[in-house]
Amino acid sequence: MRATTATVAICLLFVQCFAVSKDGESPNVLFLVIDDLRPALGCYGYQNVVTPNIDQLAAKGIKFNNAFVQQAVCGPSRTSFLTGRRPDTTRLYDFYSYWRTAAGNFTTLPQHFKEAGYFTASVGKVFHPGIASNFSDDAPYSWSVPAYHPPTQKYKMKKVCPGPDGQLHMNLVCPVEVKSQPLGSLPDIQSADFAVEFLQNVSASCQESQKQPFFLAVGFHKPHIPFKYPKEFQDLYPLSNIHLAPDPSLPPDLPTIAWNPFTDIRKREDVQALNISFPYGPVPRQFQLLMRQGYYAATSYTDSQVGRVLAALDEQGLASSTIVVLVGDHGEFSELLHDIQYMGYSMRTEKYRYTEWVTFKPKTFKPDFDRVAARELYLHDSDDLEDHNVAGKSEYRHLVQQLSQQLRKGWRNALPSE
Ligand SMILES: *[C@@H]1O[C@H](CO)[C@@H](O)[C@H](O)[C@H]1NC(C)=O
Ligand SMILES: *[C@@H]1O[C@H](CO)[C@@H](O)[C@H](O)[C@H]1NC(C)=O
Ligand SMILES: *[C@@H]1O[C@H](CO)[C@@H](O)[C@H](O)[C@H]1NC(C)=O
Ligand SMILES: *[C@@H]1O[C@H](CO)[C@@H](O)[C@H](O)[C@H]1NC(C)=O
Repeated sequence: MRATTATVAICLLFVQCFAVSKDGESPNVLFLVIDDLRPALGCYGYQNVVTPNIDQLAAKGIKFNNAFVQQAVCGPSRTSFLTGRRPDTTRLYDFYSYWRTAAGNFTTLPQHFKEAGYFTASVGKVFHPGIASNFSDDAPYSWSVPAYHPPTQKYKMKKVCPGPDGQLHMNLVCPVEVKSQPLGSLPDIQSADFAVEFLQNVSASCQESQKQPFFLAVGFHKPHIPFKYPKEFQDLYPLSNIHLAPDPSLPPDLPTIAWNPFTDIRKREDVQALNISFPYGPVPRQFQLLMRQGYYAATSYTDSQVGRVLAALDEQGLASSTIVVLVGDHGEFSELLHDIQYMGYSMRTEKYRYTEWVTFKPKTFKPDFDRVAARELYLHDSDDLEDHNVAGKSEYRHLVQQLSQQLRKGWRNALPSE
């Protein structure tokens, strides 16, 4: 009992210490970024997807229903939300440049906190790694200490997935027994371990009257492909409960340029074995089910790691003095972007999604709206899955013209007047 009492006393102390930080009002920030997380979550109405921790967080916070990525590619989308600027400003549409040298010395979100006196730390995948963040996760600008990357991430492209033949493979669908994995762990478990330890340390240093607020960014790698996750999460999703996508086929009027031929998954051994024709597939039905099962299982696995970090916030008495933000980057990896010749610009209104694919000059980063290669128009009232591109239909010519003008006027024109 003595131990329990002591724990309670210490927790209260921490709450007090952080609730009244240096200037009396700087809350800590826990910024969770989840790679390729779709809103396929309990809190967005997906009853069969098991995400209790994210759901609980959503129930206590503000849930955004119309948040869209600036670009459906991981590097640009992260640089965009971390600098608060559009890809046309950061000039990062691929993974091959660092915005500070390519576009401008833009302040990042963590940098802003650091310059305001916060202790800032990066765990896992926050900035897109490599040249996109100058091989340093934008240190020293953004972070007070070097970024932590989980050591097991180096097995990303390794043969670690047990197959039915008893051998190990580099598969897309990869449920594993964690303790038989190299180093006995997985990247997101290691990132959560690190974040939990960080929060414990924060509490300890708080006790020593060091009252610097923190900005802790934790980036989880899953549910991004490959679907490598602890195999017990598969039990949540028996194959008999998994359904195919309601629209598994290539939409008839989709411009070719809008199609993603999923080159990245084709490298995986289990996918290669299917000999899927390029570029349109189809993917065999049974494998579609396995992929969907893998995505959901990997999502629940990630949710459990989010839960561990949130539990540590509670246990360390930091929950009431910490703002928690959770975002999905919905990245997508593509290697076709070395020399960009076309760029798609999309706009959503209350009822429509309209896209123009225009010629792009990679040297000057300028779209040429006089040279439109393709258009897409979807009517959300009748086609919320966007399976019927009506941009070429004569009855929508007037609407296309109107939306096209609105798109060309750009977002600045849509700003509320002051
Ligand atoms: C970029 O900005 C940071 C502060 O935000 C400053 O320390 C640094 O010198 C700047 N670098 C360049 C090249 O202007
Ligand atoms: C990028 O990293 C290199 C090597 O550490 C460094 O010399 C350079 O100054 C960095 N770029 C910027 C813009 O800080
Ligand atoms: C926590 O503190 C210990 C002791 O100072 C240190 O060795 C460890 O690296 C710290 N861990 C984190 C995640 O900051
Ligand atoms: C793969 O498919 C192509 C046609 O799409 C066929 O010509 C080829 O023989 C197939 N290869 C195997 C190993 O099944």
